[in-house]
Amino acid sequence: MSVAPLINVALLGFGTVGSAVARRLLDRSGGNKAIALTHIFDRRAAEKAESPAGLALASRPPVAWTSSFEDILVSDVDIVVEAVGGVDPAVDWARRALAAGKSVVTANKQLVALHGPELWALAARQGRQFRFEAAVGGAMPIVRAVAEGLTGDSITQIVAILNGTTNAVLSQMEATGCSLSDAVTDARARGYAEEDPRADLDGDDARAKLAILSALAFGVRVAPDQIPSRSAARVEAGDFTTARGRRGTIRQLAYAAYDRERSTLSAWVAPVVVARDSLFGRAVGPQNVAVLTGKHSGDVGIFGTGAGGDATAVAIIGDVASIARDRAAIVPAPRLTSDFRLHNPDHEIFELAEAV
Ligand SMILES: NC(=O)c1ccc[n+]([C@@H]2O[C@H](COP(=O)([O-])OP(=O)(O)OC[C@H]3O[C@@H](n4cnc5c(N)ncnc54)[C@H](OP(=O)(O)O)[C@@H]3O)[C@@H](O)[C@H]2O)c1
Repeated sequence: MSVAPLINVALLGFGTVGSAVARRLLDRSGGNKAIALTHIFDRRAAEKAESPAGLALASRPPVAWTSSFEDILVSDVDIVVEAVGGVDPAVDWARRALAAGKSVVTANKQLVALHGPELWALAARQGRQFRFEAAVGGAMPIVRAVAEGLTGDSITQIVAILNGTTNAVLSQMEATGCSLSDAVTDARARGYAEEDPRADLDGDDARAKLAILSALAFGVRVAPDQIPSRSAARVEAGDFTTARGRRGTIRQLAYAAYDRERSTLSAWVAPVVVARDSLFGRAVGPQNVAVLTGKHSGDVGIFGTGAGGDATAVAIIGDVASIARDRAAIVPAPRLTSDFRLHNPDHEIFELAEAV
């Protein structure tokens, strides 16, 4: 009987997401028998190895903990999973891992939004893969839906809730009538918000995710900071009362539509009034939703837990498993254009607010 070869994996970062990935990869009852976590890199590797989460990782042979990225580069790992975050030095690690012949899986939306095309092209040249399902929508497999499931269609529009933190804050304000700062405190206590949730409320996180989806769906290269946004930090308890009078509620939506004939992209992130009984109005807590409109398929909806270590680990392990299934697969990088016009979104925000 032949035994499937082991795929060796290194994990960069042992925080919320990284520790969840490690737990799942080492859970041999979970069907990951062909995948072996062999290395964990973290700036406080020694401390984390001795932490309860580190000690709980039962692994034979034991995982090698290191604070040196060079140890990962010279190791025999096949796949490097980046779960540190930030653009620098993550982009350098990703480039060097690919150049050393390893595939890279990341949960890092800023990295993918800013450097994804270059890293994807480098991976293809190296005969390796660059995958990033976890960078958008947590456990919701939207990257695959857009990049693979709907490639037979021409996607014209994306309307989505892409930031679990802001959704948790706004849905808490709706449910309890509390102020935004009380809702932020509640979201922090439940582990849905970081100490400083400005990047979430202001729309920076959703803009990076929308830039990634716009590249995959429309073939355009738009920088996150080109996408207009309105902050949800200014939403007040009274705004929900007004919205309720219109049978609505308030959600932070990310919207993108591409007119291929005119090469015009409309894209924005903003808190808007949505119908309470719509897919968007019913999304509460850290949930994400996306409705993708295709020329031939009509509306395709996808819904799921958008944040949290365990949910995000599902997406990462899905990418690792895809690479493990076919290590030799070369996924050509999409050809993206920067030759498009960005449409002024103001009137569309209001049109959409009335429509959904
Ligand atoms: N949390 C979520 O729900 C979620 C969902 C989807 C995607 N993501 C993405 O997943 C990534 C990781 O997020 P996270 O929430 O797991 O973050 P996190 O809890 O802060 O974990 C990051 C880990 O990386 C370590 N680290 C930071 N800088 C480092 C450096 N220069 N060298 C080596 N190690 C370093 C941190 O060490 P310290 O402990 O010393 O800080 C920490 O262990 C981010 O790209 C994030 O956007 C997160």
